[in-house]
Amino acid sequence: MMQRIILDVDTGLDDAVALILAAGSDTIQIEGVVATSGNMGLERTLENTLNVCEVLGIQAPVFAGEAHPLVRELVHAGDFHGKSGLDGPVFAPRKNQQVQTKQGVQFIIDTILANPGQIVLVPTGPLTDIALAMQKEPRVAKLVKQIVLMGGSFIGGNVTKEAEFNAYADPEAAQIVFSSGADLVMFPLDCTTKVTLSDVQLDRYKTFKGEGASLFCACMKTYMDNYQRQGKGFPVMHDPLCVAYVIDPRRFTLTRHEVSVELEQDETYGKTIRGKDCETGGVLVANHADTDFFWEEMDKALKNLH
Ligand code: RIB
Ligand code: CA
Repeated sequence: MMQRIILDVDTGLDDAVALILAAGSDTIQIEGVVATSGNMGLERTLENTLNVCEVLGIQAPVFAGEAHPLVRELVHAGDFHGKSGLDGPVFAPRKNQQVQTKQGVQFIIDTILANPGQIVLVPTGPLTDIALAMQKEPRVAKLVKQIVLMGGSFIGGNVTKEAEFNAYADPEAAQIVFSSGADLVMFPLDCTTKVTLSDVQLDRYKTFKGEGASLFCACMKTYMDNYQRQGKGFPVMHDPLCVAYVIDPRRFTLTRHEVSVELEQDETYGKTIRGKDCETGGVLVANHADTDFFWEEMDKALKNLH
């Protein structure tokens, strides 16, 4: 069954892989892509998103999301993604994709209200756009089919000792989303850090043909170099795991909990807290992914994009 999704991305290298997996999947229909501030400022993440969509032949419209978090000062993810936020690939001038005039938050609201219970939101950056859509139109939380997000951590942070970047970059937005009552699936570092791209796998993907594979390898070479330079091992497939879940949720193990976000502006700011287990409500938290399934889907997507 086709899943109709809206991606909300801060393109970045792993966001680009999420776009590749979605564009190359036979079971996903991309309704729109919203670029938001996160890894880099909105100007850069929007340009990166437009370029990736152009190369992948994504016909769906691209929108500008929010440039600034709800409350805190703007923070970016540093140099994991390179100076452009997507170092590695070189893009020709675009012929098709240009940013839409409608604001990304309004696109999210309009699409969900026009298609009640049919749209899956896949945020892979800070949750500013999602929180604003919920504040502007309270029916969004109930009418969205599901929100499958990458963010948070219960094993310590990757941007501070306590906080994961997407939650840290807009903690108030994350708190609004986690307490919204929407059907939420959360991919924290606990799960995503178990799925990495090895050098042997990257060498294998270099034998693949086509635009999708070239883009993937150019992005992942940068990602691999930056991870290794920082002594952080192999690059983590944070964002594309959300897309793999949309493709087949049965390949993941999850548990349901109350989740909240520390909003005290001290060393815990943006830390996600896992509360009591719950049967209903709360947040479905991903604990484990079938990595063989993930890479099989990546192979399929890249072959579809040749
Ligand atoms: O902490 C990982 C997240 O931060 C990923 O979404 C990555 O793209 C960065 O935005
Ligand atoms: Ca991201």
